This record gives sequence, C-alpha cells and structure tokens, in this order.
Amino acid sequence: MRIAISTGGGDAPGLNAVIRAATLSALSRGWTVLGIKRGYAGLLGDDEVIPLTADTVRGIAHLGGTILRTTNRGNPFSFPKQQPDGSWVEVDRSDELIDNARNLGIQAMISIGGDGSLAIAQRLVEKGMRIVGVPKTIDNDVAGTVTTFGFDTAVQTAIEAIDKLHTTAESHDRVMVLEVMGRDAGFIALHSGVSGTADVVLIPEIPWRIENICKAVMDRDRSGRKFAIIVVAEGATDEKGEASIIGESMPGQDRRVGGIAQRLAKVIQDRTGKECRSMVLGHLQRGGMPTGYDRLLATRFGGAAAQAVADGKWGHMVALQTPNIVTVPITEALRTPKRVDPSHDVVRTARAVGISFGD
Ligand code: F6P
Repeated sequence: MRIAISTGGGDAPGLNAVIRAATLSALSRGWTVLGIKRGYAGLLGDDEVIPLTADTVRGIAHLGGTILRTTNRGNPFSFPKQQPDGSWVEVDRSDELIDNARNLGIQAMISIGGDGSLAIAQRLVEKGMRIVGVPKTIDNDVAGTVTTFGFDTAVQTAIEAIDKLHTTAESHDRVMVLEVMGRDAGFIALHSGVSGTADVVLIPEIPWRIENICKAVMDRDRSGRKFAIIVVAEGATDEKGEASIIGESMPGQDRRVGGIAQRLAKVIQDRTGKECRSMVLGHLQRGGMPTGYDRLLATRFGGAAAQAVADGKWGHMVALQTPNIVTVPITEALRTPKRVDPSHDVVRTARAVGISFGD
C-alpha cells in the first residue's frame, strides 16, 4: 500500500504529532508513505511530494506547525491563478490532482484539516479518491468529534495571556479587552474566559449590546473591583450582527476577521470614563508546542487514521467520542457546523459565577 498525507488550512499545534503517528503506523504495516507539501500544492506541481520515513518524522511530535507546510489558498476545485494582467481567477484543478496522485501510485490519502479541507476531501472522494480525514482546528468548530487537537493548546495560550493581563489591569485599574481567535465559533473565548476568570466573555453565538458590557464593567467598579477583563472572540458581533472585518484577504482565502477589541475598548472608554486597552492575541494561539492533551489526541488520531485506511473507511474522518476514537462520515460531521450552545453548562456556569456575555 502506498499512501500520502497532506495538511491543509490554518496550522494547529499537534499537526506534526498526527503526521508522525500516521506515518509510523503505516510503516509498521509495511506501507510506503508520501508527504504532499503545502496542502495539495505538491500534487499540482506547485510544490514537492516527499517520502515520509521513520527518519523524516523523528523528533517532531512536540513541535508546532507542520513539517509538510500548509495553505488556506489551496482548494483544488477553485484554485487561485494569477493572470498575465495581475488579476486572479479561480480554476478547477481537481482532475489534474487526481491524475497526478494516480501517476505517483498513491492508493489512499490521509487529509488533515478543518471543515474547509474536509469538505474538499469529501468532494475528491466523490470523484473516486480514497481519502480518510483527520479533523484539525484550534477553533474546535468541527462537529462529530468532542474536540479537535490544537484547541487545548490555543486555550492554554489564551489563559496565560489573561493571567498576565490580570495583574497589570489590577495594578492600573484598567479595563483590558483581549481578542482571541474564533471567526464563527466562540469556544476559545469561552473556555479561556471562564478558566481565566474573565468578567465579560463575548462570542459569536451570543450577540451583545454595548450597554450591557458597560453596565458589567461599572457594576464591578462600584463593588470596589476597579479593573475588568473582557475576552472577545474575533467574530463576536453586536445585536446588529456587525463583525469587524480587517484587511484584504488573498485570492482564494476566507475573509479575515478582526479588530473588534480595539473598537470595543474605545467605545467602553468613551461610555464609562474608565481607561481601556486592547490586545489581539492573534497567531500566537496557533503556534508553539502542543499541550500533552493535544499531543496524545493527535497521536491517537494519527494511529486511528492509518487504521481507517486499512479498513477502507473512505470519506470518513477519525473523531473523539469519549473515551473512544471512532470514525464518522465526513458528510455527517460537516452537516451542521459546531458552535457554542448558549444553554450548555459551561455558559450556564459562567453566568452563575458572574460572567457577563453582554446579552
Ligand atoms: O480557522 C482557524 C483560525 O484560527 C480562525 O480562528 C482565524 O480567523 C483564522 O484561522 C485565521 O487564519 P489566517 O491565518 O489565514 O489569517
């Protein structure tokens, strides 16, 4: 058996641990393993395809990033192509990809990615490719699995930031607004905000009103707590549904969301008279060593992905359904996007301990 592994979309701590575990599990079955560089670019002649051996994957489990590199502009069904006049068009290169995979003797693939990459994998499966998925995202927004690897590390990074902001906020009687990742799902903001004992948590799933945020800050002020910590997911919106969008996305890329913390800090300062500062945690959340939890989950996912290839589970992804690793059809996992349930116990407990969601 000759299999290939690819990593697509934004990176997440734990990718290398998946690559290592999948490779070693495949090698131990006597298979040959190839690594496709930069999403599917390696299969489109735009990058390399490399052999993955025990040597290639040695000493990488604890490293962030991905030795295979990645891209969020590599959808083979709408691949961005620059025209001679500088403009961009999107072209369908899926047939070329399938031909190249066949010419390289690739009999099956393990595609590690978030909802976008998994949707691409499913379309390729429908065109006859034999692919098994591994769900990846720091946002934890892929359904069908209790959690994705990378999420725990991102939450840990956000908690460390909140802890540090706490001491300086308290020393200066300031309101600190911390923006964390989460374009559509507020899991990072919720989990880090509750664990870091933030005062206000703003997530895309619960629209906020600025009056309520200011009231939470001022109620706290009147009770003698002169500082406040606000954690906001980058995609959180007010009741009008206006998310802040910054920057120009590159062709073929999802929209870039951000800038909400700075906007909020200004409005809260204007309305409350309290000094407000903002900070965007940004890509720090995607970098660094995976936590022990993420390393173990990633390793289990990698081993389970090789097993799923052995079992011919094409169009399935591996998933954590505690305490087991199972496989679920990718179509089922993608049917409903995973979002924070506002009636979930984490939200209810957060409210019970005094956290405002601004609603
Ligand atoms: O999908 C994961 C994610 O971390 C989002 O929360 C965030 O909006 C996005 O990636 C940022 O991606 P990029 O690095 O392409 O700007």
